Amino acid sequence: MRALVSGGAGFIGSHFAKRLAAAGENVVVFDKLTYSGNPANLEGADVEFVEGDICDLDALASAGTGCEAVVNFAAETHVDRSILGASEFVETDVLGAYALVSWTKEAGIRLVQVSTDEVYGDVPVGESSSEDDPLRPSSPYAASKAGGDLQILAAVRTYGANASITRGSNTYGPNQYPEKVIPLFVTNALDGEPLPLYGDGRQTRDWLHVDDHCAAIELVLREGGPGEVYNVGAGEELENRELTRRILELTGADESLVRHVEDRAGHDRRYSLDSSKLHGLGWSPRHTLADGLPETVEWYRSNRAWWEPLKSGEYLDYYRRQYAERLT
Ligand code: NAD
Ligand code: TYD
Repeated sequence: MRALVSGGAGFIGSHFAKRLAAAGENVVVFDKLTYSGNPANLEGADVEFVEGDICDLDALASAGTGCEAVVNFAAETHVDRSILGASEFVETDVLGAYALVSWTKEAGIRLVQVSTDEVYGDVPVGESSSEDDPLRPSSPYAASKAGGDLQILAAVRTYGANASITRGSNTYGPNQYPEKVIPLFVTNALDGEPLPLYGDGRQTRDWLHVDDHCAAIELVLREGGPGEVYNVGAGEELENRELTRRILELTGADESLVRHVEDRAGHDRRYSLDSSKLHGLGWSPRHTLADGLPETVEWYRSNRAWWEPLKSGEYLDYYRRQYAERLT
C-alpha cells in the first residue's frame, strides 16, 4: 500500500509514519512544518517527504498520486495556544479536514482522521464517553477538531466517502513537543525550572502511550468501517498533581519547583473514554504508565540534543505569553 501521512513530521504522526514504513508500506509524509513539525523526528526513516499544507488541494493531489490511503495527523494541537488565538486552528483543523475529505472522496482514497477525546468535553466522574455521545467541546482547539470530525462524517453520509475517525486520549512518549504537560514538566525538571501546575492540579487525564495510539490507528486504517468512529483510551487515569509527583521522582528534581499557578480558562476536569468498540477489533494497550513514564523520562534525559534547540525563538515568545505572569 502507498499511504500519505499528513502531519507526519509531528509527534504522533512521525511515530506512525515509521511504524507503517517498518510494516513494509510505501509512505509519503506530507507536512507544513509549523512550529511543532520537525524533520529530525523522521531521521533515518524510510519515507518520502513533501512539504505542504492540507488546505492546498493541488499540493495534496500532487503528493498523493498513487496513494490508496491517507492518515491525517495534521492539526494545530495545543489547547493553551488555541486560547491565545484560534484562527490557525479553524484553518487547519476544520478547513484542512474538509479539504482532505473533499479530495479523498473524489479520488476514491480511504481516509483516517486522527481526532481527540477532547471533542466530548468534560466527563463526570463515574462516566465514560462513547462514540455516539454528543460533542461538547470546551476549548477552541477541541471545537475545531469537532468541526473537522463533523465535516468528515457529513461527507461519508452525503457523498459516500470512505473515511473513519479515531478519538485518542492524552498521548505521551518520545518526540513530543515540549509545550504539552509531560515533556514540558520533564524538561523543566531536568533543567531546574518551575513546573506550572494549573489550578488545584486535580484534573484527570487518561494517558496513552504513543506506540499504543499508533497501533490503534493502524488497525482502524486496515479494518475500520466507513463512517465509523473509534475511541482510543488506555484506561490510565491520573490527576495532574500525581503525574507531577511521579515526574519529580523520576527526574530527581525538588518538590519546590512545583508552582500552583492560575488555572487554564475553561479547563476540562476530566476525560474518560469507553474504548470497547476498538477492543472488539482486537486492540488493547501494551504499555502502562508504570513502564511508559520512566522510559519516556529516560528518553528526554538522553536526548537533550532533540529538545534543547526547540526551547528557543518562537517557543520562548509563547512561553512568556503563557507563563510569565503566572509565574511571578
Ligand atoms: P503535533 O503538534 O506534534 O504535530 C502536528 C503536525 O501537523 C506538525 O508536524 C505540523 O507541522 C503539522 N501541520 C500543522 N498544520 C498543518 C497543515 N495545515 N498542513 C500540513 N501539516 C500541518 O501534534 P500531535 O500531538 O502529534 O497530534 C497529531 C494529531 O493527533 C492531531 O490531529 C491531534 O489533534 C491528535 N491527537 C493528539 C493527542 C495528543 O495527546 N498529542 C491526543 C489525541 C489526538
Ligand atoms: P496538555 O498536555 O496541554 O493536554 P490537554 O490540555 O490536551 O489535556 O495538558 C494536560 C493537563 O495538564 C491538563 O489538565 C492541563 C495541565 N497542564 C498544567 O497543569 N500545566 C501546564 O503548564 C500544562 C501545559 C498543562
